[in-house]
Amino acid sequence: MKAVVLVGGFGTRLRPLTLTTPKQMLPVIDRPMIEHVVGWLGSAGVTDAVLALGYRPEAFTTHYTDGLCAGVRLHYAVEDHPLDTAGAIRFAAHEAGFAGERLLAINGDVLTDLDLTGLWDLHQESGAEATIALTPVDDPSRYGVVPTDDENRVLGFIEKPPADEAPTNWINAGSYVFEPSVLEGIPADIPVSVERETFPALARRRSLYALRSDAYWVDTGTPLTYLKAQLDMVDGTRDSLPPVHPGAVVDDEAYVYRSVIMDGAIIRSGARVENSVVSPSAVIEQNAVVRDSIIGSGALVQNGAVVADYSVIGSDVSVTPGAELGGVRLPDPG
Ligand code: GDD
Ligand code: MG
Repeated sequence: MKAVVLVGGFGTRLRPLTLTTPKQMLPVIDRPMIEHVVGWLGSAGVTDAVLALGYRPEAFTTHYTDGLCAGVRLHYAVEDHPLDTAGAIRFAAHEAGFAGERLLAINGDVLTDLDLTGLWDLHQESGAEATIALTPVDDPSRYGVVPTDDENRVLGFIEKPPADEAPTNWINAGSYVFEPSVLEGIPADIPVSVERETFPALARRRSLYALRSDAYWVDTGTPLTYLKAQLDMVDGTRDSLPPVHPGAVVDDEAYVYRSVIMDGAIIRSGARVENSVVSPSAVIEQNAVVRDSIIGSGALVQNGAVVADYSVIGSDVSVTPGAELGGVRLPDPG
């Protein structure tokens, strides 16, 4: 199997973390998010993946210099202007030489254990032009909402409907199988949305099928879900990975509860870190408190400061001694 991985978005909802690093290169426990995603593709039998790049492509191309990511051969396609999701899939498939084959396409910011082989097989059986995976969520209004009939045929595709207008809580999980005909139908070199154009048109042609899945699934695109994805690994809700990196230094007199402390981070004596992520090389100084928050790489939380309530501290930012921050983003991305 070959795959297109969409990673070219601006990551606006994760600013300020994404001002310096594209979303899929942000660390998740011990490696960039993209490695978890591509590792999942590889475990389903994907041998080649093209990254559909736009925003800060060099963050990817300079990191995976041997062209391998989690054992999968990487290809790169860099848009010179954003082509939106369908435009990007078409462009990347052509750039990598994958056009003309049945392909997987995925949103690169989703961490999931969804069964891609099952998706591929259902697609083969139905004879549809495209097949998409669905997952149930509590609030479908933030996603693509996808009603189906009893035979798994998609009846419509409504991207981010108002909360009270979603006909179902089964949403687009961001994993697709496409016949080459779908890619050929996408106009070249202009922005085209797979969610607002391609899928609604396929549903009208009755040529779109869906696989419902209860597997673990999280879109990491907001601070809350980027944090949740990692705390799920600390809790063992998903895989269990050691939450304190061997290259981190946690003082014996510090208190760390249900948190991820990444490589090179330092937690000094009397500091408390709870339900939080402390990124590589960040420092939490004496008696500082970090609760339900994300501290970016190289950031410094100085003596006695409190950072709480889903605050996001950008990379290399310094929080002044004794500051009390709740629910803030620093610097404020506006
Ligand atoms: N190359 C490229 N070019 N990639 C892009 C572009 C573009 O112009 N625009 C967005 N992307 C990438 C993002 O980097 C991300 O990996 C993926 O496409 C989806 O974009 P998001 O911005 O994360 O979309 P979303 O989370 O609001 O909604 C999407 O995902 C939901 C599930 O996670 C939609 O596909 C929804 O229908 C879906 O339910
Ligand atoms: Mg997303």
